[in-house]
Amino acid sequence: MTALVTTLTETLRYRGAIGQWSWVLHRVAGLGVVLFLVLHVIGVAYSVFYPGLWEEEVLIYQHPIFTIGEFVLTACVVYHALNGLRISILDSRPHLWKHQKQAATYVLLGTLVLLIPTFILMFGHVLRHYNEGAFFIDFPTLLNAMLRFAIGIAAAAALAVLASGLYGLIGGNQKDVSVGKGSGSRMERFWWSFMRISGVLIIPLVFGHLAIAHIVQGVFEINLASANIPGVPVSEVGSILANGINNSGTAVEYVAERWNFLIGGVALWRIYDAALLALVTVHGFNGLRYVITDYTMSSPLMRRAAVYLCFIGGTALLVVGVLALLGTIDTTAVQLAEEAKAHLLGMP
Ligand code: HEM
Ligand code: HEM
Repeated sequence: MTALVTTLTETLRYRGAIGQWSWVLHRVAGLGVVLFLVLHVIGVAYSVFYPGLWEEEVLIYQHPIFTIGEFVLTACVVYHALNGLRISILDSRPHLWKHQKQAATYVLLGTLVLLIPTFILMFGHVLRHYNEGAFFIDFPTLLNAMLRFAIGIAAAAALAVLASGLYGLIGGNQKDVSVGKGSGSRMERFWWSFMRISGVLIIPLVFGHLAIAHIVQGVFEINLASANIPGVPVSEVGSILANGINNSGTAVEYVAERWNFLIGGVALWRIYDAALLALVTVHGFNGLRYVITDYTMSSPLMRRAAVYLCFIGGTALLVVGVLALLGTIDTTAVQLAEEAKAHLLGMP
């Protein structure tokens, strides 16, 4: 905690050399995306296991509060990606270190250059939605859904502290593992390389994913009746849940269409999502471990709890995401989603 306060006050006191600010921005952006990822992977898994809840989550994405959040999320992903690329390139080319300052400025400029047209296109989708008569989920339902996640995260953190306390009682705090970014162990060297390689691999995957969710179509088209499904060609033959059209106008059918689409028997979008899931979850939760262990240096109990939380939380999220990817979405699930959507929007 003291370390966290020092980070904040010292950053403000120095009024930031650009390197200091880019470190803070990189960290805050990374944490924001991890938080979204937790809500998102559980949300997508609902489409297989609790279709009504995925319908609800997509209506929440369409609420004005989340529309603002969506712009912030996109900015976080773009800045973190470009700055991560800068870190990865400079770390492998020490002779370029003297250009650190310029590189950090280029990252800011690059972020602006990418964000301006992206925001214009995203804003076009928002305007179209409002011009066509927007509908909203009500605020108490939104709060209730977010409260579920907040309770889940708080419970996971409390369990991690409890498990760490038990370990301390039985094994003693002296035998604490030297975990953390700076420990120099072989394991930490592996994670150091992993963060750089995975970061570079994530760029095309997450940018492609966001292009589909924000540019090709907007978030508002995910549950739009008769809309085309991006990445799934329209077809007259074959399954109703893989014909390239959102017949029911539900977010559940949207996922079914994309996951059921086969090229030569291969479920292209399931494989794409599996690669994205594996890389962002492991990278994001290891990043979370770096951040929390940085601020819990002085307490072996909390430091160990941080490692447990990130390890168990990341593994649980991976399992949930993989189970969803291996699942099937049938017409009954779509029917349940239609009913939930009608109920949430107060339609007959
Ligand atoms: C888009 C491509 C991405 C690139 C190029 C990238 C790159 C990086 C790099 C190089 C680091 C520094 C690692 C270190 O200090 O050893 C890092 C840290 C981090 N990344 Fe990413 N990353 C990307 C995507 C993501 C995503 C999608 C998330 C969230 C799910 C994320 C969350 C984090 C977090 C929380 C940290 C720790 C920040 C800190 O220690 O201050 N990153 N990333
Ligand atoms: C508001 C922005 C976003 C929207 C509307 C969105 C939408 C979706 C949708 C509809 C799916 C279902 C499958 C598919 O269509 O491929 C999905 C899956 C997925 N998304 Fe996103 N996405 C967004 C942002 C992100 C970001 C920033 C990340 C990474 C940090 C991400 C990571 C994933 C992953 C890993 C899956 C697969 C989940 C699973 O395997 O269960 N998404 N997303």
